[in-house]
Amino acid sequence: MTDTLTIHTPDDWHLHLRDGAMLRAVAPESARHFARAIIMPNLVPPVVTGADAAAYRDRILSALPEGSGFTPLMTLYLTEDTDPDDLARAHADGLITAVKLYPAGATTNSTSGVRDFEVIRPVLEKMAEIGCPLCVHGEVTDPDIDIFDREAVFIDRVLDPIRRATPGLRVVMEHITTKQGVEYASEGGPDLGATITTHHLVINRNHILSGGIKPHYYCLPVAKREEHRIALRRAAVSGDPTFFLGTDSAPHTDANKLLPCGCAGCFTATNTLSILSHVFEEESALDRLDSFTSINGPKFYRLPANDSTITLKRGDPVAYPARIETDDGPVTVFDPGYPLHWRVVG
Ligand code: DOR
Ligand code: ZN
Repeated sequence: MTDTLTIHTPDDWHLHLRDGAMLRAVAPESARHFARAIIMPNLVPPVVTGADAAAYRDRILSALPEGSGFTPLMTLYLTEDTDPDDLARAHADGLITAVKLYPAGATTNSTSGVRDFEVIRPVLEKMAEIGCPLCVHGEVTDPDIDIFDREAVFIDRVLDPIRRATPGLRVVMEHITTKQGVEYASEGGPDLGATITTHHLVINRNHILSGGIKPHYYCLPVAKREEHRIALRRAAVSGDPTFFLGTDSAPHTDANKLLPCGCAGCFTATNTLSILSHVFEEESALDRLDSFTSINGPKFYRLPANDSTITLKRGDPVAYPARIETDDGPVTVFDPGYPLHWRVVG
């Protein structure tokens, strides 16, 4: 059995780093093993202009450990007031890599998101013209739609019409959680990609709700039935360039997770590579981990893969903290529910 694996240094194509004390605590966790990450803009207030993105990038760079080569790839938060020219300038200057679409009310800090998708049409057309990818949180917010169906309905009602109306628009379906998401992404051609999180490869909805409610497994989109987890695993290990890692590592303090109305998000930055190696080994697909973590994402974003490598080794159970300390309070690290044996050794 293989017990050592060398892959190109991974990138995280969907990451929440937050700001202030939380940023300072979590940035080193991602910078330890990842070379680059697409940084989510759902701060309070959100990152809406090129100037906001430049200022946030500087705050991230100052939160990194001395000598870290980690590169934050910035995004803008798309609102109904986004100025297409500001966006195009930020993209041309290399300040932003993508733009994030949150339907208003879909998730954490999404109230400034989009209510009327017709209003953003000129921005989407500008993005298609300049080749700036749109990262999409793909859930409808219609309260009449069951939360477990919101991704599949979004594809039919919102995503497919947008893509048909905007030829050339490059889209990433973020954190897909359903077999409908997998099917739609795999048939979408080279202008459509999809990220898959670490935790959605591990948990289904039973993990959240059976035998007591587990707030630390609650995230959005919420984990679905087992058949969907299996579809995600098949997609992740397939080697299909459509699918790549976006951890959606989303730290919240334990105090905020454990409220009567607790926050959505799983914090996986600390142990993601150990978990992914475990999953790919279970699927007899360790030889395709590199594609998922390090090759397919850069290819979609038209960036070179990293030159450097990391090595993973299988051995005794990996020790990692149950929670990391921040000046805002502790943040629980995602627990896959089993011991991990793969560690990054170099
Ligand atoms: O679980 C989630 N947490 N899903 C999201 O879409 C947002 C994220 C967050 O920012 O906490
Ligand atoms: Zn996210």
